[in-house]
Amino acid sequence: MTGHAAVLSAASFYDFLQPSHHGKKVFMCDGTACLTSGKSEKVRQTLLEKYREDEIGLMTCLGHCHSNDAFLVNGEIRLIGSGGQPEIMRVSSNTDMPALITPAGAINEYYSLAYGWTGKEEEALRELEVSGLRGRGGAGFPFHVKVRSSCDAAYGKKYVVCNGDEGDPGAFSDKWLLEERPHAVLFGMLMTGIITGADTGVVYIRGEYPLAVKRVREAVRLLEETGIATGEGSDNITRFRFHVVEGSGAYICGEETSLLNSIEGLRPEVRTRPPFPAVYGLFGKPTVLSNVETFANVHYILEEGGAAWASMGTEKSPGTKLVSLDGAFNRPGLLEVKMGTPLRTVIDDLGGGTRYPVKAFQIGGPLGGLVPSSRVDDLTLDFESFAREGFLLGHAGIVSVPADFPIIKLLEHLFEFTKKESCGKCFPCRLGSARGLELLSGAAGKGEKIDRELFDDLLETMQLGSLCALGGGLPLPVKNALQYFSDELKEYFTTREG
Ligand SMILES: Cc1cc2nc3c(=O)[nH]c(=O)nc-3n(C[C@H](O)[C@H](O)[C@H](O)COP(=O)(O)O)c2cc1C
Ligand code: SF4
Repeated sequence: MTGHAAVLSAASFYDFLQPSHHGKKVFMCDGTACLTSGKSEKVRQTLLEKYREDEIGLMTCLGHCHSNDAFLVNGEIRLIGSGGQPEIMRVSSNTDMPALITPAGAINEYYSLAYGWTGKEEEALRELEVSGLRGRGGAGFPFHVKVRSSCDAAYGKKYVVCNGDEGDPGAFSDKWLLEERPHAVLFGMLMTGIITGADTGVVYIRGEYPLAVKRVREAVRLLEETGIATGEGSDNITRFRFHVVEGSGAYICGEETSLLNSIEGLRPEVRTRPPFPAVYGLFGKPTVLSNVETFANVHYILEEGGAAWASMGTEKSPGTKLVSLDGAFNRPGLLEVKMGTPLRTVIDDLGGGTRYPVKAFQIGGPLGGLVPSSRVDDLTLDFESFAREGFLLGHAGIVSVPADFPIIKLLEHLFEFTKKESCGKCFPCRLGSARGLELLSGAAGKGEKIDRELFDDLLETMQLGSLCALGGGLPLPVKNALQYFSDELKEYFTTREG
């Protein structure tokens, strides 16, 4: 398809390309953590001292959930609290040899590991298998299985794509890796290319993270200048070429098939699967598409061994996980935590507890579960524990819900987010998010009552009938809220007689 209609179809999808976007001079964050922190109004008032109301736009999310006072101006993130300067974020770990937060060091030495594994691609893949590395983008799918599928695919041209879209409000771990450890991410992609036979890597980074885009571009340039991945050599390493693609403001582009459509210049609606990207991915070619943090683990695994990496976690959730702590914590910032660490340890010992009473933690983004404070002792930080107890680890961003924050407002926010970000391809999500928002807004703002049976049906339809985990995942935190905060929510609902 060519012509104006095709261009408009793609362009009209993105927030940054909307006509209304262009009149804005500054953007403040309206992500979940900024909402629950209660700091948004102060940010707005401060910006109003310099900008007109109609010059202030919104972005979800700027990835500063640990400070809750970020705004974006002239393509750079600034903070109200630090007098407009970027801040230094706290980063720590509960392991002696962190896999992710350790700096890369000298570039030639860091990449020499790739030369050590060339000619031993099968052994490298086996090491990834021994590690048991599971995708960090949410679903926890075994990384080596994707790599194997791409290896087995017969086509000549293959790709490696890194998902740096991190749209989940509350998570800023990928942002940090892209900004501070770009070579760990690029190394993981390069090594995946060497194993599968792919010669092209695409890093897709959301436009709300301008510093991440800049740092990754610089890192790619350094690789080209030092002759490591130039796109022109004759061996697997030097012939590898990286491309950096900047997103334009669309949460759904984090969903892997939407992301592929976005790179291809199509309207980024979600594709039906199968076929999965490992077999039919970018431009229809076999593609290992994985998350930033997933790729960033590869160097450690191939240097220290899959078993050493795995031993930092549990049997089914090996390794470590980056955890983002929001501004409610006494020690907000980023943690590299051994999988299986008690959630209580993460919250109270590593995070220093919260500065004010908190009744729930939304963990794993807008589609993650809502963990009431009363259940924190029942959870360890790993995929199984969260799934078993009816929650979702996801990206492991932790957003605190203060004791005095109305849960109905949180639910309204989650439906509003889904309505805005729905790609519109399937009815349960497109219509369900709009109807759910109407019901919740009516209840929260106009004293209307929600028919509980109707609401339950709506959640069931979204969960079972949606094509992807945006519409399909929203019911999880909503159901958690209905279960654990039934006393607080009962005034908004009616139940039918008999
Ligand atoms: C609505 C939606 C948003 C998503 N956003 C992201 C994202 O921002 N980053 C990410 O890595 N995965 C995201 N995912 C998951 C991807 O579709 C995909 O599973 C992941 O990138 C695969 O990488 P992994 O195996 O390393 O986790 C999202 C999925 C859905 C349904
Ligand atoms: S669930 Fe929502 S975002 Fe996903 S395909 Fe359906 S309409 Fe698109």
